[in-house]
Amino acid sequence: MKDINNQNGLNSPWTDSLNRNLHPDSNALVDHLRIVHQKHTGFTETCASSCRDKAGRNSYEWLAEIVPNNKELRVLDLACGSGTLLKILFDRNQNLNLKGIDMCPEELKLAKNLLKNSGVNLIESKAQNLTAINDNSIDIVLCHWALTLMDPITPVLNEVRRVLTSEGRFAALVDGPINTVPSYKEVYDLIYSYVQEGIPNYGEIDLGDPRIRGTESLSNLAHKTFPEANVTIETNVVSIKGPVIEVAETAAGFFYAAFVLKPDKRKSMIKSLSKILAISKESTDAEKQGQFSMPINRLIVEPYIT
Ligand SMILES: C[S@@+](CC[C@H](N)C(=O)[O-])C[C@H]1O[C@@H](n2cnc3c(N)ncnc32)[C@H](O)[C@@H]1O
Repeated sequence: MKDINNQNGLNSPWTDSLNRNLHPDSNALVDHLRIVHQKHTGFTETCASSCRDKAGRNSYEWLAEIVPNNKELRVLDLACGSGTLLKILFDRNQNLNLKGIDMCPEELKLAKNLLKNSGVNLIESKAQNLTAINDNSIDIVLCHWALTLMDPITPVLNEVRRVLTSEGRFAALVDGPINTVPSYKEVYDLIYSYVQEGIPNYGEIDLGDPRIRGTESLSNLAHKTFPEANVTIETNVVSIKGPVIEVAETAAGFFYAAFVLKPDKRKSMIKSLSKILAISKESTDAEKQGQFSMPINRLIVEPYIT
């Protein structure tokens, strides 16, 4: 695993395959994600913590609502990253038995620091093979903004099913329907147009299994693994307002594609993004205010209440 040409943007076996018109395999995907997270450790937390819905919740808090505050439950955060969701859960209810799993050691290091003295068990592992977790040993599995990156996805869902008790619940926060927010589609198109100047196939082929990104296809996938469960998907919108350059940086941070841009291209992409996101008319970008809004989906898989 290595970043082949660091000063020229981010290259990996995954981008290399795209450049050669090949479909990257799952090892190339893992290598690519590890390189991104080595170079930009903790970036998800920085972006996702600052975007809020109409009720004032960020996406971690919205997902954390699945866990009741007054019970002694066993909760697993799948692909926990730097540990933000686990910290929210720990601060709310110290009677929870919390575990976090991630394949990126640099992210786990941040999580260990954030959660020191909490007793939260952090494990380095791929989500496709949760050997460290026993069958029927978890009451709730959560996954914040990571299911979209996983390919193959079926072994992940099978592992979630294996580790959950028969009464257990699974909830995941993923990208929402792109057309829910027209300005989001504009941001998406702009970032991908920059990336496609260097890697024309990026977008047609993207990270993870594309079925996670569609509401209906995600629901079908969940039904396949959990045929006897109640599957619901709710859509919400989170937004951030502030100095337009900061808002543009936050918006770009949600797109893994933006990390492959060379520094000069990225700078010019942020400038174009600032134009789309500006909501005030001051003459310089440094003075302008901006707003970014993004659709998100919350998948909940739970037993039918009889
Ligand atoms: C966008 S970050 C989200 C991190 C954290 N859940 C959060 O929202 O702050 C995606 C995380 O998924 C992890 N990841 C991606 N694919 C994985 C896999 N197959 N197994 C385990 N972790 C994975 C990455 O290492 C990364 O930490």
